[in-house]
Amino acid sequence: MKLIEIEFGSNLYQEMLVLRDEMLRKPIGLEHSEADLQKEPGYRHFGILKNDEMIACLMMVPHTNELVQIRQMAVLDKLQGSGYGKLIMTGVEEILSKEGRIKRIFLNARGTAIGFYAKLGYTGVGDKFTEVGIPHLRMEKGIL
Ligand SMILES: CC(C)(COP(=O)(O)OP(=O)(O)OC[C@H]1O[C@@H](n2cnc3c(N)ncnc32)[C@H](O)[C@@H]1OP(=O)(O)O)[C@@H](O)C(=O)NCCC(=O)NCCS
Repeated sequence: MKLIEIEFGSNLYQEMLVLRDEMLRKPIGLEHSEADLQKEPGYRHFGILKNDEMIACLMMVPHTNELVQIRQMAVLDKLQGSGYGKLIMTGVEEILSKEGRIKRIFLNARGTAIGFYAKLGYTGVGDKFTEVGIPHLRMEKGIL
């Protein structure tokens, strides 16, 4: 099992899109569109491979020199609750910490995932809001 950075447009990137669609989009009746993907060459993508299968992924969107947003965080359904979400989040935080530039991460947590991010030290900011028809909360964490 390994945490890898995924190159935009690669075979692994295509596998990651499938995981994202299955775990994030389809449950709420959506699929990704070409317009959604147009900005992704400028983002960083990470995944966990287990026996060569993509089982967890997330996308990192740059905002300022010191701030990034985590988006599209997903773990394969049959392995949810097994520690892989925590593994990819903490692994990516560690990469940012070693790189030394980014000081803060924010994300828009789905209501159902707020407890997951809270356990990882993310703090809610502001009021809940609705996006893609479901409640979300902005959450943030500093990088040491
Ligand atoms: C939310 C998600 C990313 C969490 O990943 P995961 O691999 O299932 O979570 P982990 O097993 O690593 O859990 C880590 C800790 O968070 C807790 N946790 C996990 N999901 C949780 C949730 N939805 N609410 C509250 N706590 C949660 C676990 O109990 C565990 O606690 P512990 O460290 O005390 O044992 C994953 O379940 C998922 O992909 N869900 C569907 C898609 C989704 O909602 N993505 C997030 C969009 S913002």
